[in-house]
Amino acid sequence: MMQADTEVHKGLEGVIVTESSVGFVDGQAGRLVYRGYNIETLADNSNYEEVAYLLLYGHLPNVKEFENFRARLRTTMDLNADVVALIKSIAPKAHPMSVLRTVVSFIGAQDQKSNSTDLRDQEEMSLKLMSKLPAIVGTISRASKGQDAIKPDPELSYAANFLYCSTGKRPDKEHEKIMDTCLILHADHGSNASTFSALVTISTLADMYSAVTSAISTLKGPLHGGANELALETIKKVAKPENAEHVLSEMLAKKEKIMGFGHRVYKVYDPRARILKKYAESVTRRNGKEDLFRTAEQMEKVMISKLGEKGIFPNVDFYSGMVYDSLGFDSRMFTPIFALARIAGWTARSLEYIRDNKLFRPKAKYIGEAGPKEYVGIQKR
Ligand code: SDX
Repeated sequence: MMQADTEVHKGLEGVIVTESSVGFVDGQAGRLVYRGYNIETLADNSNYEEVAYLLLYGHLPNVKEFENFRARLRTTMDLNADVVALIKSIAPKAHPMSVLRTVVSFIGAQDQKSNSTDLRDQEEMSLKLMSKLPAIVGTISRASKGQDAIKPDPELSYAANFLYCSTGKRPDKEHEKIMDTCLILHADHGSNASTFSALVTISTLADMYSAVTSAISTLKGPLHGGANELALETIKKVAKPENAEHVLSEMLAKKEKIMGFGHRVYKVYDPRARILKKYAESVTRRNGKEDLFRTAEQMEKVMISKLGEKGIFPNVDFYSGMVYDSLGFDSRMFTPIFALARIAGWTARSLEYIRDNKLFRPKAKYIGEAGPKEYVGIQKR
């Protein structure tokens, strides 16, 4: 019997697939909340480790909880020699997101816990992965330039250690704060594509390494996390504020998507972009790249004048690349930095979901031939 006609929600647009207390995105008000805290409040007052704890455990830690959490992350932050060797063998030739995906999968293959479906083991895998990511992403950045790995320093914060493992220098307070805020802003974002990928994977009771490997694979796409790398390329292609109008008009006339603009949920200015824009202005002024910022600002004005009434505004990816570029990162590292932050949201929501698990299995509306068709041998076709 053919299935009854039902409305198709392509891309699950507007479909609620689960309940969550981890955080939410108010697309009309332009509000992002983690466990009840506005993102602006956390960006101004907190730090990434505290926010990761908040997302994972539902409350801001007290001093003891915070110290225990940081101590736990420090116990597994180092990379084994074979992980470093794997990164060095593939980083010079592969995109950093492909390397990151491979390394997480490799670490998972080595961990016997990845055969467990026990919730405590899934939490252990989450914390182990989170603890290793500053060194993993920093080592990928260095290995892609032929540089040796730097061992993380347990005295440094998550953000500072990432910068240290990337540059070999302990960052100054300003650089640490900028990176820490970027990580907070990218830590969680509702049921976005990469988080949804993680949920689908973990809902089969696969292990957290598999769920995070799914998420990294999904984040790589240019319509999702890959947009930050391409957004900066577009800004550099426009090059001067006076070019913005005609370059963008040409691209739009060819139905090209302008990277860093638009969003499935935000139909107003992305609150993260507002904060990142301030950092972009200050870091580009400090390193003499004001033109880049002015060009981006003019692109924003042109895009809002053309598509604002369609709810298309800058998103998190428009200014983030400029900030990372000013911190010395190659544009291909921008999306791995996104993953370095989003490990908190991916794991927090995956652990929340399997506490009341339901296998994801949506439907597809069949529009093929009804049949049943007779089989015709190949000689007679
Ligand atoms: C992230 O989901 C999340 O929360 C993601 C994220 C997170 O933190 O996890 O916020 C991170 O992925 C941010 C988004 C990064 N991606 C980009 O910047 C890529 C460019 N943006 C577009 O591809 C688009 O805006 C999406 C994919 C982000 C959202 O698109 P939708 O909701 O699927 O809407 P759509 O593609 O169907 O576009 C609707 C209309 C279309 O025009 P019409 O066919 O109706 O005439 O708006 C147009 C689109 O052409 N449009 C754009 C555009 N975005 C939408 N036109 C030009 N440039 C754009 N950027």
